[in-house]
Amino acid sequence: MNKNIILIGFMGCGKTSIGKNLSIITGKMFIDTDEQIQNDIGMSISQIFEQFGEKYFRKLENDLCRQISKSKNKIIATGGGIVKNSNNMKKLMENGIVIYLKSSPEKIYDNLKCDNSRPLLDVPDKFEKIKELFNQRVNIYESYAQITIDTTKNNINENTQLIIEQLQKL
Ligand code: S3P
Repeated sequence: MNKNIILIGFMGCGKTSIGKNLSIITGKMFIDTDEQIQNDIGMSISQIFEQFGEKYFRKLENDLCRQISKSKNKIIATGGGIVKNSNNMKKLMENGIVIYLKSSPEKIYDNLKCDNSRPLLDVPDKFEKIKELFNQRVNIYESYAQITIDTTKNNINENTQLIIEQLQKL
């Protein structure tokens, strides 16, 4: 199977850590869209949002999805908002299997309460914002999921193993 493995899900659900783990185990190359954008532009996600705005960031994401869709055999951890643009998903799905890392607002808050790297959560009430965005997006994540892994129950290694088992069934 030389399709890309596309990890989608809300901020802080474990896409990057699980993706890196999957990459080590499968030997497939790992790409993190946020990391790639930061490296390409030479700025952090927060700086990009602050200086150029979210719309510009979304354009960079869109350009990158088009580029990634040409690659094969990669593990791709996506930014949590990538699903908002159906063209991104269309491109990524051309040569990829979509795995939704499902989480809960409570678990996400717990993972991100001390993290300041997500500009969209840089608000006085972080938990409220997480719930608001989560409710807006949960149906979108579910609609693209070819495999769903509930990340609230297990640790990173166990979740990685679950993904491998599911992929073997395909
Ligand atoms: C975003 C998620 C972030 C990053 C940006 C916007 C979002 O990525 O792309 O801060 O809209 O959900 P992670 O999901 O890796 O945190």
